[in-house]
Amino acid sequence: MGAKKPRIVIIGAGMAGLTAAHELCTSARDEFEVLVVEAGSRIGGRINTSEFGPDRIELGATWIHGVGGSPVYEIASRIGSLSSDRPWECMDCSFEVRTVAEDGSEVTRAVSELVSALFDSLMDFAQGKAKVFEDGACSSQESKEEFRGIAAEALEACRSECGRARNPSIGSFLRKGLEIYWGRSGCGKDPRRNLDEEAVFAMNENIQRTYTSAGDLSSLDFWAEREYMTCSGEEITIANGYSSVVQHLASVLPPGTIRIGWEVVKIEWHPLANGHADSYPVTLHFRDRATIHADHVIVTVSLGVLKARTGPGTSLFSPPLPPFKTDAISRLGFGTVNKLFLHLTSAADNRVEFPFLQMAFHRPDSEFKNRAVPWWMRRTASLSPIHRNSDVLLSWFAGKEALHLETLTEEEILDEVSSAVNSMISPSDPGSAGVKFGKALRSKWGSDPLFLGSYSYVAVGSSGDDLDALAVPLPLTLPRGCSALQIMFAGEATHRTHYSTTHGAYYSGIREAVRLLKHYKCGGWTDYDG
Ligand SMILES: Cc1cc2nc3c(=O)[nH]c(=O)nc-3n(C[C@H](O)[C@H](O)[C@H](O)COP(=O)(O)OP(=O)(O)OC[C@H]3O[C@@H](n4cnc5c(N)ncnc54)[C@H](O)[C@@H]3O)c2cc1C
Ligand SMILES: *[C@@H]1O[C@H](CO)[C@@H](O)[C@H](O)[C@H]1NC(C)=O
Repeated sequence: MGAKKPRIVIIGAGMAGLTAAHELCTSARDEFEVLVVEAGSRIGGRINTSEFGPDRIELGATWIHGVGGSPVYEIASRIGSLSSDRPWECMDCSFEVRTVAEDGSEVTRAVSELVSALFDSLMDFAQGKAKVFEDGACSSQESKEEFRGIAAEALEACRSECGRARNPSIGSFLRKGLEIYWGRSGCGKDPRRNLDEEAVFAMNENIQRTYTSAGDLSSLDFWAEREYMTCSGEEITIANGYSSVVQHLASVLPPGTIRIGWEVVKIEWHPLANGHADSYPVTLHFRDRATIHADHVIVTVSLGVLKARTGPGTSLFSPPLPPFKTDAISRLGFGTVNKLFLHLTSAADNRVEFPFLQMAFHRPDSEFKNRAVPWWMRRTASLSPIHRNSDVLLSWFAGKEALHLETLTEEEILDEVSSAVNSMISPSDPGSAGVKFGKALRSKWGSDPLFLGSYSYVAVGSSGDDLDALAVPLPLTLPRGCSALQIMFAGEATHRTHYSTTHGAYYSGIREAVRLLKHYKCGGWTDYDG
């Protein structure tokens, strides 16, 4: 390489990009020239801590999904981000749950706990977990075993119906489970009870839609659920905001490393020999800015952006990515999940304590259909204060409902949500003032061109192999004179077992930084040939 330091350009200042830059700069400060180019006006990407009235809230990543072994937890605790004088989102989130059916009737605890336990058993089975239930009325040893039996039977039924060629989906497996449960327990039951059971089951499916971002669970691959890994321990939120973690990673980079407002529009690379060893093999073109030449580029843009920018004619890459990449990109799932925050207004002398409201909607053709509820709220599972005594309420949305939410004005949201909620929590008292919302804020991950969705899932028709394929650096084969590791990939969607999370993005950033560190220590590209 002579005197020239290898130049590494990282595209995207989200968790993956900043982690890679951090690792490169701390492990080998003077070996490389490192740049991070970010199209947006801020760092963090899908981590977007924001303000709503006096409260600090998260529009993107919210939870550390299990503190055990989590690198995000390790950083947050090391920098003192886990406590704050100010209240924060979900500092306490386990208060009294009230489950209300759409016609305003209360769903009994017996029904909601039993059906939720059935649902959890089905998901545990799908995920290959043998979860130990806490002992409660509805999760006795007996029902636990019965539910596991139902799950096994449901999978068998799904497999014989779908045939071996097509993989079962989580959606069809779950519904099969409910059918079998009803087959065993349904006789002679009150029809209203069946309806409520179905509504609570659907509510649990809706929670699962927001966990996975699969707008439709019938597009979520059954077998991939077993590969997905979760960290152990408690799930917590970050008192000082999720952004404090990425700010910390950025703070140790040499000044000038991060370029904000630099949008890459074309990545030119050379999968065939390009002549001189000392010329840069990759050229980045930006919107309204100069080009940058590089030895290595680490692409961390979302799978949503890759889906939109790898097709013929629209490709970010020149030449376009090879088919093994574009096929994996188009097969994998990338859905939209959005959060909606509402400010509860009430006269000072009439403060309403809002419960953790779970909403159970019946099938859309049900006789109990509540016309005050707009279609885009009918698959929302809950509305609850962001912490005890907070005046800020939060709902999660997925799929086409989440996308529709992005198109509404604040007034439309306030209007439609308040009539829906009032019709459900005080239906018999139309004269009462009910609850009023004064302000709304929602995320817009689906329509933001820098994300085009929220996180990845393994869709029916794809598999963990596709996540691995996304991580493979290019070019694959190295003709004489061709440089290795021209284009590398990091980001949540490139991690086979921790995709969709911030720690998955973190691990992927480390993986690509280490790939480069090894590449230079081991003295060449032959390691990666073939
Ligand atoms: C609503 C929501 C809730 C979530 N909840 C959780 C949670 O509770 N726990 C959890 O662990 N994870 C959660 N996640 C997922 C988590 O936020 C992501 O997995 C993670 O932040 C992804 O990081 P990344 O670096 O892979 O990608 P990104 O954060 O998307 O970073 C990529 C960057 O590339 C930039 N970019 C795009 N195009 C270009 C271009 N052409 N040129 C230059 N730059 C470009 C983008 O602006 C972005 O900053 C949530 C996500 C969302 C949306
Ligand atoms: C990130 O937060 C800012 C407000 O702090 C908001 O304007 C922006 O729309 C958010 N991004 C997304 C994609 O929701």
